Amino acid sequence: MSTRPTVSLIEGDGIGPEIAVATVRAVEAAGGQIDWERVDAGAGAVEKHKDPLPQATIESMKKHGLALKGPLATPSGGGYRSVNVTLRQEFDMYANVRPVKTIAGVPSRYDNVDLTIVRENTEDLYAGIEHYRDAKRSAAESIAIITRFGSERIITYAFEYARRHKRKKVTLVHKANILKMSNGLFLDCGKEIAAKYPDIQFDDMIVDATAMKLVIAPEKFDVIVTMNLFGDILSDLTAGLVGGLGVAPASNIGAGCAMFEAVHGTAPDIAGKGIANPTGLMLSAAMLLDHIEQREAATRLRTAIFSALGDASTRTGDLGGKANTAGYTDAVIRAMK
Ligand SMILES: NC(=O)c1ccc[n+]([C@@H]2O[C@H](COP(=O)([O-])OP(=O)(O)OC[C@H]3O[C@@H](n4cnc5c(N)ncnc54)[C@H](O)[C@@H]3O)[C@@H](O)[C@H]2O)c1
Repeated sequence: MSTRPTVSLIEGDGIGPEIAVATVRAVEAAGGQIDWERVDAGAGAVEKHKDPLPQATIESMKKHGLALKGPLATPSGGGYRSVNVTLRQEFDMYANVRPVKTIAGVPSRYDNVDLTIVRENTEDLYAGIEHYRDAKRSAAESIAIITRFGSERIITYAFEYARRHKRKKVTLVHKANILKMSNGLFLDCGKEIAAKYPDIQFDDMIVDATAMKLVIAPEKFDVIVTMNLFGDILSDLTAGLVGGLGVAPASNIGAGCAMFEAVHGTAPDIAGKGIANPTGLMLSAAMLLDHIEQREAATRLRTAIFSALGDASTRTGDLGGKANTAGYTDAVIRAMK
């Protein structure tokens, strides 16, 4: 990795530009060595380029292999596909990684959560294979695709992630008791791969039991690896364990590109008011810094964010504070000094 890589910056729609400005300021203050290449996507790109995902944006991501992305609105009408889904497919971003950690000062029901969901992002019921069974639409079918290739690569990713982040356990979540072939294949792959990682504990759990145990005792979980649909649901559940989507970071890892993004939406109700909470995107930028091996800057950024969130006077309104986006960002930057 070059010491000063270029990262495609997609500010996005709604509050996207506001939280992107805040995040770039915080990354620079933390000593992150990044050149940003600003490119467009989403509803704003339709206005500017008549295309929600301009070729220049794809080329930029192909060239640099790294992106930081704010939330995007898919324009209604015009038959546009979700840009988020298109990006995932274009770059085969098979791993969606969502770390979830209790943050002091952020209101939540738990004080001891520290887990990561690694979700397969390209297969399962979201492979897009569905149809009506008849012209009257009296029945519809969606097909879940689980391949050995896709299962092995996401489970291997989860174990490698666990090793890299000094995690102790990987829990594979499935429904193999009912979906014996598709989920059974995923579970078999898990058992085979786990045998290659004797330093990491491995267990498996049925998805419904997992949902209950996550709510009763989330501190028992470490790294969770699962398929697309269960991962989609459980990753929002786990964000709820630590204060919601506003503080949740994510990365999408693929062979051709690693994209880091806030998981919340464009928040149209507060866009342009300068009061959005940039924490989700800032923590995603910290994941990006880790990914490009600028670990000191990542730690400095994360520690400063947690410090600013720990003080009621510097939190943003969504977390019960009085600060606006710029005031909170100033506090994050002050905390680095
Ligand atoms: N990753 C993405 O690009 C993504 C994800 C979800 C939704 N969306 C899009 O965003 C738009 C709005 O969706 P929605 O209203 O369902 O969800 P949303 O996350 O935008 O908003 C839900 C609520 O949370 C608040 N909120 C969200 N992020 C916040 C932040 N950073 N700081 C303070 N408050 C925040 C909003 O003000 C709103 O009250 C839709 O067009 C949707 O398609 C995009």
